[in-house]
Amino acid sequence: MQLRRKLVVGNWKMNGSLAQLAELGPIADAAREAGGVDVGICPPFTLIAAAVTRSGGVAIGAQDCHQAASGAHTGCVSAAMLKEAGAKIAIVGHSERRADQGETDALVRAKAEAALAAGLITIVCVGESESQREAGGHVRVVTDMLAGSMPDDWEEGELVVAYEPVWAIGTGKVATPADVIEMHAALRAALVARFGDRGGRIRILYGGSVKADNAAETFRCPEVDGGLVGGASLTAAQFVPIVEAAAGG
Ligand code: PGA
Repeated sequence: MQLRRKLVVGNWKMNGSLAQLAELGPIADAAREAGGVDVGICPPFTLIAAAVTRSGGVAIGAQDCHQAASGAHTGCVSAAMLKEAGAKIAIVGHSERRADQGETDALVRAKAEAALAAGLITIVCVGESESQREAGGHVRVVTDMLAGSMPDDWEEGELVVAYEPVWAIGTGKVATPADVIEMHAALRAALVARFGDRGGRIRILYGGSVKADNAAETFRCPEVDGGLVGGASLTAAQFVPIVEAAAGG
């Protein structure tokens, strides 16, 4: 048996509409037919409840959550609210939120703790910028982010890491297999050093311009347990081949 079942999650970012939820049907059918792969879609908050009713077995998730359970936080949504809406997944610490909302490692960790406490599968994102890579310190930058962003307590299967090099997100520039292998090996080593055998069972996703034509090669890299997919998750036509690549890899 595979040590870690593959997981492919689509991140719709600030895209989508009720009409676009029609994409979920064919994605769910393909996931079922492919077998052996977990599939999720994270639409904007406003679409979560409607997406759940049309998910066909695809796990619906959120792109963020607040670290507090409730309170005076205008415009924010708690993990328990997401859970009540039917969400099964929460992405935390996406690089766009770290950049646009100034989220720090400590805040990302608090959000991850809140998501886990609500019983959500929690995807903690880490990744270096282009200048950090060019300066040569990218492995250290990313393993430091991981150290600061990962909670200590979690149930088996509920915590997931996504390595998303910022320079590869939405740019069409995919990390090469050598880039991916280097970073995923470093992340795995850090997880095992911190959590022992349990760290060996945490899934590590790759994200950054994953498309139908590069998914299979990326998913075959050691320590790559699936993908976090932005642009190519918006339509079933683009996302289904990625799901199939994960099932076959
Ligand atoms: P992309 O986005 O696939 O459009 O590069 C990935 C992500 O930001 O999760």
